[in-house]
Amino acid sequence: MAHNYDLVVIGGGPGGYTAAIRAAQLGLKVACVEKRANKALGGVCLNVGCIPSKALLDSSEAYEHTRHKLSRHGIKVGSVELDLPTMLARKDKVVSELTGGVGYLFKKYGVTPVFGAAKLAKGNAVEVTASDGEKSVLEAKNVLLATGSESTELPFMKFDGKHIVSSTEALNFNPVPKHLIVVGGGYIGLELGSVWKRLGSKVTVLEFLPRILAICDGEIAREVHKLLVKQGFEINVDTKVTGATVKGDTVTVTAQSKDGKELSVQGDRVLVAVGRRPYTSGLGLDEAGVKTDAKSGRVDVNEHFQTSVPGVYAIGDLITGPMLAHKASEEGVVFVETLTGMKPHVNYDAIPSVIYIWPEVASVGLTEEQLKENGVEYRVGKFKFAATGRAKAMDEQDGFVKVLADVKTDRVLGVHILGPRASDLIAECVTIMEYKGSAEDIARCTHAHPTLSEAVGEAARMAWSGKPLNS
Ligand code: FAD
Ligand code: NAI
Repeated sequence: MAHNYDLVVIGGGPGGYTAAIRAAQLGLKVACVEKRANKALGGVCLNVGCIPSKALLDSSEAYEHTRHKLSRHGIKVGSVELDLPTMLARKDKVVSELTGGVGYLFKKYGVTPVFGAAKLAKGNAVEVTASDGEKSVLEAKNVLLATGSESTELPFMKFDGKHIVSSTEALNFNPVPKHLIVVGGGYIGLELGSVWKRLGSKVTVLEFLPRILAICDGEIAREVHKLLVKQGFEINVDTKVTGATVKGDTVTVTAQSKDGKELSVQGDRVLVAVGRRPYTSGLGLDEAGVKTDAKSGRVDVNEHFQTSVPGVYAIGDLITGPMLAHKASEEGVVFVETLTGMKPHVNYDAIPSVIYIWPEVASVGLTEEQLKENGVEYRVGKFKFAATGRAKAMDEQDGFVKVLADVKTDRVLGVHILGPRASDLIAECVTIMEYKGSAEDIARCTHAHPTLSEAVGEAARMAWSGKPLNS
């Protein structure tokens, strides 16, 4: 059979578009199919995920900073007003500039964008149905599935697009909700909860587990809980949501606490953020013979991203692992480079995660709980930002850095940071872990003074030698 393409990528998110660009750079003839109705590339991340949420987090943080923190620096600003339409329009502009940027890169490297819904057909062909119903077929030597994920719905409180919503609608509330009830104290619940809290909502979080941020190191999660309560969040853990009723503009959410107490919370908007599930609707996986995990619905792949069908591969949120944009794009690059004969790999032990609340949370590697569970003997080095000159100068003194290192070898096993710009500070720790470095390696690197990175150096010094220099 004649193949039109070496590679057809289904899905234009960070996994798919990055794979397509890298494939074109390596000389493959590649098409990328995207079904988003407005023909925007970039997937969930650029359109309704990472980017718009961070635009709102940055804007709302500036508002919060101006209203509550500048006076401590001796800056009087008079009355500060929120212009929500402008804030939302800025967010939309950031999104369109970045999604347009992906289109520009496709042109630059010669990736063919194809707009429509893709379905696997016989012989690794891909059938595309455009928005006007017209069908076309792309013949491909290889097909990469990168169709991502969608919000999980609770069967007893379905999304209605207005009162009970997913993260997508929660990026566009206007006006600011009076009382936002957030179901799920994970990434989305706390990030978008922070946005609307800063802009004036009362925010109540209902979390099923005994703690928020179940994926984080326990000590960090406990400290985040305290700081969010200080910021005005109401947080109920061990709380099982049982239903919701909408009357006029009021939603009543019912829940049960672990000790059997009934809870009823009234608000005007409910954000349900209880996780995401792989998105495979209309892809034709069953007919094509592509196997999925019965429980999670994720596509089964081997270490080279090969599915159960030869020539069909999968990456990103669709397969196992953390649902993070940088994990998806890393897999896209490694998949394509492997296909063209190179020998790269994804180091799943050194994928950082960041929660962009304030102060920020960033981590890489194992938590204390995981180390204990695995029976690994480790040393802990901790250093508070309050003891660094820069954090004092910035007046951002909450949080700490925690470095976990192997007792015998001093190898860094995990780093967990709660503090200002933790998102940027974690990069050094990822590099060290990638090179299997030790706490001493971090401590002996010169950290510029005065910077927040000194807290990382000091925590590492403590893990290695038992003592920091400045505390
Ligand atoms: P996606 O980005 O989901 O892209 C898949 C694309 O495939 C979509 O555009 C979809 O339209 C298309 N598609 C699906 N089916 C078909 C089909 N049959 N034919 C054609 N096209 C199809 N991650 C981070 O790392 N950092 C963050 O700060 C962050 N913030 C987030 C905030 C929110 C509110 C949300 C919801 C997610 C966030 N994430 C973040 C997660 C991140 O968005 C995902 O991990 C990432 O987008 C996954 O990339 P992907 O390429 O696997 O899939
Ligand atoms: P999540 O998995 O982060 O958190 C979901 C929370 O909901 C968990 O704490 C869970 O215990 C709780 N929960 C589950 N069922 C519940 C129920 N019935 N009632 C009450 N609580 C319940 O999922 P979230 O926040 O929806 O985000 C989805 C994914 O998107 C994240 O896991 C992450 O991979 C990605 N994401 C990443 C971001 C980042 O990198 N900064 C930001 C936003 C999303």
